[in-house]
Amino acid sequence: MTSPRKPIRKAVFPVAGLGTRFLPATKAVPKEMLTVVDRPVIQHVVDEARAAGIEHFIFVTGRNKAVIEDHFDSAYELERTLEQRGKTKELELLARDLPAAGQTSFTRQQAPLGLGHAVWCAREIVGNEPFALLLPDMLHHGDPPCLSEMITAYQEHGGNLVAVSPVPEDQTHLYGIVGVEDRAAKVSRITTMVEKPPRGTAPSNLHISGRYILQPEIFDLLERQERGAGGEIQLTDAMIRLAAQPDQPFYAVRFDGKIYDCGSKLGFLVANVAYALEREDLGPALKEEIAKLLQG
Ligand code: G1P
Repeated sequence: MTSPRKPIRKAVFPVAGLGTRFLPATKAVPKEMLTVVDRPVIQHVVDEARAAGIEHFIFVTGRNKAVIEDHFDSAYELERTLEQRGKTKELELLARDLPAAGQTSFTRQQAPLGLGHAVWCAREIVGNEPFALLLPDMLHHGDPPCLSEMITAYQEHGGNLVAVSPVPEDQTHLYGIVGVEDRAAKVSRITTMVEKPPRGTAPSNLHISGRYILQPEIFDLLERQERGAGGEIQLTDAMIRLAAQPDQPFYAVRFDGKIYDCGSKLGFLVANVAYALEREDLGPALKEEIAKLLQG
C-alpha cells in the first residue's frame, strides 16, 4: 500500500562513488567536493534539497569520504579565526550553509555494489516514510528548483516520482529511461522503465535524471539484492518491481531547467562556466575573458 501522503522530510545522497573519471583530482578529494564556482558539488545539491523543505540529510558515504562529513559540520578553529579578524560576511556564509544539530546522518556503503545497494544502506535511517533521493553528480538548475517541483507534484499525486528530461537518442543507453502515458504533460504516469537499454531499444528518450521521491516499500525490494545491468544492484530494477505492485503508481515529472552531469569532465566544466556567468560578481568579467580566449 502507498502510505498516505506523508510529508517528505528526509533526503538521501549517495556519495560513495570512487570518482575514477576525475583522477588524479579525486585521489585524495572526493568527487562530490570538487567545486562548481566556489561551492562543492554536494553543497549545490544539498541547497536544492533544503530549498524544497528537506529537514534531514542522509549521506551514504564510503572510504576516503570523511571530508564530506567535515564540510557539513561547524569548523570551530576557522570560525574563531574569522571572528577575530572581523570577517563577518564569511562567517555569515558559513552559518547559513550549516545544517542544524541532528539534521545530518552518515552511513557507509561498504562495497561498491551499485546505486540500489547504496540506497538500501540508508533504510534504517529513512525508516517507514517516503523520502527524496538526489544523485549528486547531476546538477539540476532551474527556477523553481527540481526537487521543489517534485514535492509539489507529490502533494497532488502521491506515489513515487522521478524527474525526467529528454536526451539525444544516441545517449539513451547511458541512463535509466522511461515511457510515459502523456508526453506533453508536466507530470505523467510512467508506463515502462528500463535501466541502460541497449542502443535502439529505448522506449523513449526521457532519461531518469537523478531526482526521485520513493515510498519506503522500495527497501523490501532492494533487500533481495538482485543484480541487474553491469552486474550491479540497480535502483531502476527495484522501481520496476515496485511499480508492478498495487497502489504504487510511478509518475515522471519533466524538468525543464538545465541539467549538468558533473560526473563527466565536460559537464563539470560547462557547469562551472554556466554558474559563474550567472553571478553578478563574476559573470560580466568572465564573459569578456571567454570572448578573448575564443578569439585566440
Ligand atoms: C544512475 C541510474 C540511472 C540514471 C542515472 C542518472 O546511473 O541508475 O537510472 O539515469 O543515474 O545520472 P549511473 O549514472 O549511476 O550509471
